[in-house]
Amino acid sequence: MAITIKSAKEIELMMESGKILAEVLERLEEFIKPGISTLDIDREGERIMRSYNTIPSFLDYNGYPASICVSVNDQVVHGIPTAERILQEGDIVSLDAGVIHKGYHSDAARTVAVGEISEEARLLIDRTKQSFFEGIKFARAGCHLYEISAAIDDYISQFGYGIVRDLVGHGIGRNLHEDPQIPNFKQKRRGVKLQPGMTLAIEPMINMGRADVVWEDDDWTVSTDDGSLSAHYENTVLITDGDPVILTLPTK
Ligand code: MF3
Ligand code: CO
Repeated sequence: MAITIKSAKEIELMMESGKILAEVLERLEEFIKPGISTLDIDREGERIMRSYNTIPSFLDYNGYPASICVSVNDQVVHGIPTAERILQEGDIVSLDAGVIHKGYHSDAARTVAVGEISEEARLLIDRTKQSFFEGIKFARAGCHLYEISAAIDDYISQFGYGIVRDLVGHGIGRNLHEDPQIPNFKQKRRGVKLQPGMTLAIEPMINMGRADVVWEDDDWTVSTDDGSLSAHYENTVLITDGDPVILTLPTK
């Protein structure tokens, strides 16, 4: 599939979609506390989405059974919410969500602290987030796609963390996953030239230990192979003639 370039009208709808998702995630973050189950998070997330008259895009996507991907501690992404998994003080929890608004998708993720967490867990979360911002310094027309990948890699490598290689970012628009794939690690080629109107979901997934991941028996949940903590940070980003626009952050 070719990379889609969004028209002005489509960009407007992508912006609306992203703004809704930004608010959903902001409210969901405030909901996180020790003692709730990951299913409580899914229920609350879906409730908030529906209150904005929008549709959770993950629900039934390739058979995924929930609205929010909730991944705790060594779970990297695509954790399935359950009533049995109760958040404990000191956990870190990754919330990944998507909405479809007037036919246009947005996709974003944050890793959140449950109560007080260790200094090393805090650093992992903050550095994973920062790696996204290092990456999007190159999310500009005329840059090449893998400059984003290299910037994330260069920033993260200094900490000795593992960059997940089995999962990557992606184009987004009328579909949740469009071309191009966006690795979070260095490539040998430079990748496609970025153009105004491209919309990209850039999503570093960073492990405190090694990069290797395993799939759990539910065929969804991805966990670190070595049991180390993992963090995720994702936004849907618009390439323009100037600075990139992060569509899934709250506009204050
Ligand atoms: N944000 C996730 C990704 O880009 C989407 C999860 S799809 C689901 O991979 F099916 F797991 F919900
Ligand atoms: Co994504």
